[in-house]
Order: sequence, then C-alpha cells, then structure tokens
Amino acid sequence: MENLADKLNREPPEVLRSLKLIGAIAGEFGYPVYAVGGFVRDIILGVEDFDLDIVVEGDGINFTRELSRKLNVGWTAHTRFKTATIHIPGEVKIKLDVATARQEIYDSPAALPRVSFGSIKDDLRRRDFTVNAMALDISRDNFGRLVDFFNGRGDLRDKVLRVMHNLSFIDDPTRILRAVRFEQRFGFRIEPFALRLIKESLAQGMLERVHKHRLRDELILILKEPSPVKSLRRIAKLRGFRFIHSSLNIDQKTFALLKRVDELYKWFAENFVHKHKHKVEKWLLYLIVLLENLSVPELKKTLHSFAFHKNDIQKVISFKKDTAKVISKLKKEIPASGIHKILFPLSYEVVLLMLLKAKDVQIKRKIQDFLRAYSGTQIHLRGDELKELGLRPGPDFKLILKELLDAKLDGKFSTKEEELVYLKNEILSKKLSR
Ligand code: CTP
Repeated sequence: MENLADKLNREPPEVLRSLKLIGAIAGEFGYPVYAVGGFVRDIILGVEDFDLDIVVEGDGINFTRELSRKLNVGWTAHTRFKTATIHIPGEVKIKLDVATARQEIYDSPAALPRVSFGSIKDDLRRRDFTVNAMALDISRDNFGRLVDFFNGRGDLRDKVLRVMHNLSFIDDPTRILRAVRFEQRFGFRIEPFALRLIKESLAQGMLERVHKHRLRDELILILKEPSPVKSLRRIAKLRGFRFIHSSLNIDQKTFALLKRVDELYKWFAENFVHKHKHKVEKWLLYLIVLLENLSVPELKKTLHSFAFHKNDIQKVISFKKDTAKVISKLKKEIPASGIHKILFPLSYEVVLLMLLKAKDVQIKRKIQDFLRAYSGTQIHLRGDELKELGLRPGPDFKLILKELLDAKLDGKFSTKEEELVYLKNEILSKKLSR
C-alpha cells in the first residue's frame, strides 16, 4: 500500500504535530486511528485543507476528552453521531472532527441515519464517493499508510467521481450537489453510472425531500467555490432549481449576470478604497442574482423557509424591491449628497449589483463615484470637538452632522478649517436665527 508519510511531512508543523499527537494518544488507548475523507483526498491532490476528519476504532468521545486535555483546548460533543469537534487555535487554524468508526442505517430516504459502531472499512463504505472514502493511518507504527479499500486512489488519478453503492443519492440526496461541486472544483467527471443514479434520484424529486437547512448549506458551499457559475449551469441542466422554489427558472439573462458577478467582485476588491470597512460576501452576490426572478412574496417565503440569516434575506429582498426605483432616481441630475442619500442606506452587495443592472453610463458613473469616494467621505470635526462648540448630542446634533457631510460631499469645503467656518457661518448661525 502507498505511504503518504512524505506528503504528510510537508504539512504545516501544527498539522503534523496534531496528527502525531492523535496517533500517540490512540496508541495509549489501543485504538487504531485514521484521518479520513476530504483531508486524505486533498493531501494526495496537494490542496491545503485544515479540516481534519479523524476516525478511531474505539470510543471517540473518550478519546477526544483525552486529546483536548493534552492540547489544553475545549471540545464539543455531538452525541447523536458519536462525534466531537476540537478547534486548535494558532497561525494555522485546525478543525478536528473525531468520530467513532461507524455504520449508518438509513431508515427512510433523505432522512438522517441511525448510527452504530463499526470498523474503519464500514465507516469508509458509507461515504459519498470513492475519492472521499480513503483513510490515512496515523497510528505511530503505520504513520502515513494509505488505506484504500475501494480504489479511491485510482479514481483520484483518473479524476472520476464514483459512488460507493447504488443507493447513495437516495440515502443522501445532498450528495448530488456535492458531486456537482467536486466535479467543477477539481475538474472531475461524474462517472456514467453515478450520473444515471443522480438523474434517477432527481427525477424522483429526492432533492425536494431533503431538509431545507441542509440544502441551504450545500447551496452556500457551491456559491462559495471560486467559480460557482459552472456548477449552477450543471444544476440547471440536470433538473434546475426546483429544490429551491418550484417556479425558479434561471434564464440566459440571469446566467449572463451571474457570469459578470466574478469580474464585478474582483473590481470591487482591487479598487475599492474602503474595502476593509465594508465586507462584501461574494456568495451572497450570486444568491441575489440567482433568485432575481422570484417575486418579493416568493422570496420572503422561500428564504425564511430555508432559514437564511435575516441580514442576508433583507439584502436579497432589497435588491428585488429597490433596484428599479434607485436606478430611476439616479437618472436625474443630482449632487453628490443626493447620490449618497439614495445609496448609503443600501447594502454594499445591493449597490454593487445595481452596477450590473444599470445600463446608462451616467448612472453607472454615479454608483462608482459613490463606491470609490462618497461612501467613505467623513467630516473632519469629531464629536468631542463639536461638543466643545456647545453642541449637545441629540436629534439636532445628528442633523447638523448630516448637513455638514452633505456640504462636504458637494464640495463646499475641503480642509478642517474651512469645515469649521462652514459649520459656524452656514449651519449654526442659521439655526440660531430660526
Ligand atoms: N461525506 C459523505 N456524505 C456527505 C457528506 C460527507 O459521505 N453527504 C463524507 C465524505 O467522506 C467526506 C467527509 O464525509 O469526505 C467529510 O465531509 P465534508 O467535510 O463535508 O467534505 P469534504 O470531503 O472534506 O469536502 P470539502 O473540501 O468541501 O470540505
């Protein structure tokens, strides 16, 4: 059997140290211990991955308790699946999921499985694809030995996604979305038999039977991939997005927009001066566009049923509701302060996407000016300096700050001295005479 010790030795020292410690503790317990799944796949592919799935042939919970004691970090147990998680802080942040080798029995399709103890072979057999069903022995005596019962190594070499058994997509239909994700991420090919099973499972509406929270998580994972559009096209071809909403149809126009999201995000990340202040979630840009053909009530119902985060829901809805209105307001001749007033209350994701929607060059320029300059414009005078001038915090105070900011945006002054003069002569004196 192949030995991956050389590849393991090239891992960051923290990872190597953790693996060796795990091997040593397992030795004390007399448990065989393995790294499994995506971590093994990624070691072979030479892809960075610090999510370690560890399987012990023994009591995983007891084992984790001891491991966390030695590492001096906390841990969380998930009793239903007899698994536990440890986060190891440090320069390289390692997430360790420890499980007892297990068999899974699916009582009903698309539901969560019943779990019982098993051997490492049982544990690997229940997994999604052969390339994810390899184990790496990390026990002291066999450190680095590849355990590959199902020719995952060969399939990895051939870049093929092969299922372990023909009920794989019935047991767990989210694997369909995983297949698409891995296919696009690694340039793999879904092997013909697996593809047939996927199509059969989709035709039976299996994906629509999965708990929506799990679908949401898988969808987000796809949207977080470096190039999600290829996966979205693949899904559209297979059966479409009925698993999100029965009438969700992604037409060519939407795909054209989705394709431009990547370049839009790049532009934003490279040029946007205030990017450190305003984090834009790229995956959310894709989600907003993906759902753009649903009506507002459909969006609300769907997003809530998938339990998306309420801020994310608000952004998707705002794009749908506000875009046309905002673009039409921006058509008019307006000063910088007016543009600021229109765009500032919106999220950056929504403003960015409006750039894609706006056809008129003048409107695009206004949005770009907002992103590049207006959104980060601040007045010079600080709160305590204003208090020194006798201003008291309250609604009036806020209005004065806003008036000052608007004046600055509209180029009425630029230096701090000029700002102070403007405040005294143009704002405060008028207030007093009122
Ligand atoms: N797995 C599975 N079926 C699923 C999800 C996971 O069989 N529906 C198994 C696979 O063996 C997988 C492992 O559990 O490799 C870990 O799952 P996860 O961390 O979700 O995926 P990774 O394969 O590590 O992929 P990624 O790189 O996207 O994290």
